[in-house]
Amino acid sequence: MAERFRIAVVGVGRIGAFHARHVQELASERGDCALTAVVDGYGDLAAEVAAELQTGQETAIGVFKDVEELVAAKAADGAFVASRTENHYRDAQTLIDAGWRVLMEKPLTHSLATAREFAAYLDADAFGRTALMQAFMRRFDAPLLWAKALLDRGTIGAPFKIVSILEDPVPPPDGYNSSGILSDMAVHNIDEILWLGGQRPEWLAGFGSLLYNQQHADVKEDFDDAILQMYFPENLIGQVTVSRNHVAGYRNETWVYGTEGVVHVGAFGADSLLVEAEAFGRRGLIERREFALRDYGAAVPFFVERFGPAYKAEVAHYIDQCRAGAPFAVDHRDGLRALEIAMVGSGALQGREEGVAIDFAERD
Ligand SMILES: NC(=O)c1ccc[n+]([C@@H]2O[C@H](COP(=O)([O-])OP(=O)(O)OC[C@H]3O[C@@H](n4cnc5c(N)ncnc54)[C@H](O)[C@@H]3O)[C@@H](O)[C@H]2O)c1
Repeated sequence: MAERFRIAVVGVGRIGAFHARHVQELASERGDCALTAVVDGYGDLAAEVAAELQTGQETAIGVFKDVEELVAAKAADGAFVASRTENHYRDAQTLIDAGWRVLMEKPLTHSLATAREFAAYLDADAFGRTALMQAFMRRFDAPLLWAKALLDRGTIGAPFKIVSILEDPVPPPDGYNSSGILSDMAVHNIDEILWLGGQRPEWLAGFGSLLYNQQHADVKEDFDDAILQMYFPENLIGQVTVSRNHVAGYRNETWVYGTEGVVHVGAFGADSLLVEAEAFGRRGLIERREFALRDYGAAVPFFVERFGPAYKAEVAHYIDQCRAGAPFAVDHRDGLRALEIAMVGSGALQGREEGVAIDFAERD
């Protein structure tokens, strides 16, 4: 493919606008791709975002209200779908029906039934099977790739417990469409644990609470704080903690416990532009690394601050595979598996009434 691969971004809300910007940067760095369209049906958002982005490039950016208009105009060769979760299925299917391969934000769809239906539709023919890349950016994150390489080398022996923590400082913004705290947030952690652990769980348990944010948020969710435990067949458990209540800032942290040591990535701290990662064995420190994140030079959403380079790397992978006609490293099967665990796991979350009351012998 000698020509530039033309990309549209569908949905230019909080995250889509950054995906569009990353496509533009890759276009000027690599010269083999271009941002040629943005699509959004919410007010004048598409036109506003396009006008802002246009100052950074010569190639015209087309503005479309929906994916049907985009396809009819043949304004791109592929698309990054970052629309509201409830629109993922419809947007992606329309593009795939038109013969486009898509990079799509998580979660795959907004319900278990539609996710299974969509995956079956994709699996039904050869094009569909490699048509969708699921945007699990953790798989492209330098600190987590470092941890994965250590695990693959056996540095800490056999992993038996993986703990993955994701805590937001604020609730989702007004108008946000969440399918539940596990499918909206924990789907990232679930995929991370499956990727690091190399197994799929056979049993789920957990707890959900409404502690703080849901008393103030406009966006209603099932819980604002949850713990999911996954039991894997080969002596491994995965523990996910997600919360919308870490008011001091965004917290992302992963621990992998193995028979010979522990690997630790990220910690909540003063410097949000630095990720520290370390591995310890029975005789102390094995390796410590610091990963500098990108300073966008302005206030950006907290998840963009932490994962900016990973978001850009996932787009680069999408372009590479599209240009080469090769399969994606992470696809709808990964998206479905993680969402099945999140959705089925939601049904396993217990509240306080399902706990055991304690009656102390000594009275106050
Ligand atoms: N991978 C990640 O780390 C990550 C982070 C954030 C979001 N996401 C995913 O990306 C998708 C989009 O998320 P987002 O955070 O950009 O959502 P968003 O609500 O900011 O924007 C999504 C769409 O909502 C519409 N919209 C914008 N403002 C609105 C308002 N005030 N009222 C009603 N509608 C409005 C627009 O059509 C916009 O394209 C979701 O599926 C989400 O799960 C992924």
